This record gives sequence, structure tokens and C-alpha cells, in this order.
Amino acid sequence: MGLKEVFQKNPDRRYIMFGGKGGLGKTTFSAATAWWLASQGKKVLVFSVDPQASLTDIFQRDIFGKGPVKVADNLWAQEIDADSHIKAYQDQIRKKILDMYGLPAVPEEIEHYIQAASAEPAMEESAIFDAVVDVVVQGDYDYYIYDLVPLGHALYYLSMAKVYDEWINKVTKLREEMREYEEMVSRIRREKETEQDEILKELLYIKGRINASSAILTDKAKTAFFFVVTPEQMIITDTQKAALLFAQFDVPIVGYVINRVIPRRLLEQNIPEYLRNRIQMQDRHLVDIRSAFGDQVLASVPELERDVTGLKMIEQLAGIMFG
Ligand SMILES: Nc1ncnc2c1ncn2[C@@H]1O[C@H](COP(=O)(O)OP(=O)(O)OP(=O)(O)O)[C@@H](O)[C@H]1O
Ligand SMILES: [Mg+2]
Repeated sequence: MGLKEVFQKNPDRRYIMFGGKGGLGKTTFSAATAWWLASQGKKVLVFSVDPQASLTDIFQRDIFGKGPVKVADNLWAQEIDADSHIKAYQDQIRKKILDMYGLPAVPEEIEHYIQAASAEPAMEESAIFDAVVDVVVQGDYDYYIYDLVPLGHALYYLSMAKVYDEWINKVTKLREEMREYEEMVSRIRREKETEQDEILKELLYIKGRINASSAILTDKAKTAFFFVVTPEQMIITDTQKAALLFAQFDVPIVGYVINRVIPRRLLEQNIPEYLRNRIQMQDRHLVDIRSAFGDQVLASVPELERDVTGLKMIEQLAGIMFG
């Protein structure tokens, strides 16, 4: 089966991700897949949280931090600006503190704390996570193509949903128990109802969002995760390891796409020994890829004569991947 059949046979899989090590072609394949789906009449959003503005590069349009930008018929691209989300978070925290304590300004120590907390990687991750949840739960598109950051980060992102969930479960349970206790005390004292528990409300809200998004991410019926591999020993080994880990987090791995295969027709020409050797080496690794991933290999993309940028080349690549 090829990539095209996989998409045609599973129209309910609307959340698409390309994962893999750095620089293998995740952004390129995300853009080409998004383009192809859009050309089939689907309304598509391809989005990323990569601060390197890689969608801006490939679409040759200034997209970063601008919300969904229409780049072709049926096709929108969005680059989430994590920094501005963190700033918005900080403002939210400040406002809550001011409201809660009726203060005219945020005390200096608390401002210090807010600044320090924002420098934490966890804060950035959670701002990103929140932004992604916002995009995905809106549900305006037929397809969401998530252009992932390199493997390690992606795994961290996915595992976070699980960790978050467990943590919030614990805190929520504790909070509910406390609330029961508080209610009992106020009944004994014949006080009126305890006031609304704002913290519990907030926790349940976050929990609901996380459940919704991690349910989507790990839903075999709705989500498809593809690995990008190249015919290189180290990449194959690392991809195998990553696939095992991802499977543990219930990521629905649907297949593998090979990138940067040197065109074999070059062998018919008078080419330097150097290139001939490269091709032979790739041949061995292509055999390894087949034996490691078998019929889960869905497409093979050649090394092109230049970087993939602009709609014309994206279209050409889509033709190769889905042709
Ligand atoms: N088949 C190909 N032929 C020629 N150039 C390619 C091919 N595939 C990808 N490239 C180029 O390789 C570079 C890296 O590709 P891309 O940005 O898609 O990788 P990535 O996996 O998204 O990287 P990162 O991990 O940094 O996000 C880009 O300049 C892209 O145009
Ligand atoms: Mg990329």
C-alpha cells in the first residue's frame, strides 16, 4: 500500500504528524501532504510550534505568529509564536493575582517569581501545549497536519499529556476530598454553602482540555503518525528505538516514508566513483529499511536537485509522494 491509499482508506484520520530526527524532511513532507490533501478538496491546516519559522521558509510567506495564513486553495499554514503565548500567560497570572487580592499593582517579589517561572522550560512547553490544544479543539478544518519538532521534543510533548493527566488526577482528587471536608464543617457550623471552588474549577477545565487533546493524539481512528527515515545506518537504528518508545505512549504509527534516495537512473550515466559508492551504500541501507519496517514503508522520495521551497516544488514533491 502507498501513502495515497492509506489516506483514501482512512478518511477519519484527520490529525496527521510527521516525526523523525532533525533535518530529515518533516516540514517538507508536512507541507507536501497538506498541499496534496488540499488539492483533493479538503480544508487543511498545516501548523508548527517551531521557533525556526520553517513553514515561513518552505511556503516563502511570512507566517510566523500571524494565525492561520491562507497559502493556497483550501490550504492554511500557521506558525505558533510560543513567546507571545508565554507573555499572555504571564499577563493572565498577573491579572488573577490583582483580582484575587484586590491589589493595585503586582508586588515586586511576585513579579520576580513570575519572571523566573517563565524561564522554566516547563512553562514554555505548557504554553505551546495550550496553543496546540487551542488550534486542534477548534475543529474548523478537515485535516490538521502537525509539523513536529525533532524526535526528542515530540516525545516529550506526547509524554507530557500522560504525565499532566496523572498529576492533575491526583490534585483534583485531593481537592475534591478537601471540598467534602469543607462542606461538612460548614454544615456543622450551619453556614451557607461554601463558595465556588475556583481552583477545582480551573483544574477540571485544564484536565478536560488535556484529555480532549491527548485523546485525539493517541486515537488510532483519528490520528496517523508517520516517521521520516533516510537510508543511513544511524538514522535507521534511532528510528527503530523511537518507534518502540512512541508505541509505549500509544502513538498510532501508521508508516514510514523514505527520503533522500539518490536517483538510480544516474547509474546509467558516466558518474564519479564517489557517487556510485554512495548509491551502493544506500542500497544496503534500503534493504535494512525494508527488513526493519516491511510493508509499513509507504513512499520513497528521491534526493532532489535543490531544497524544497515554494508552491511549485511542494506540488512536485506531492506528486512523487502521492503519485
Ligand atoms: N528530498 C529532498 N531533496 C532535496 N532537499 C530536501 C529533500 N528533503 C528535504 N530537503 C531539504 O532538507 C532541508 C531539511 O528539510 P526539513 O526542513 O523538511 O527537515 P525537518 O525534519 O523539518 O528539520 P527540523 O528537524 O529542523 O525541523 C530543507 O532545506 C529541505 O528543503
Ligand atoms: Mg521542521
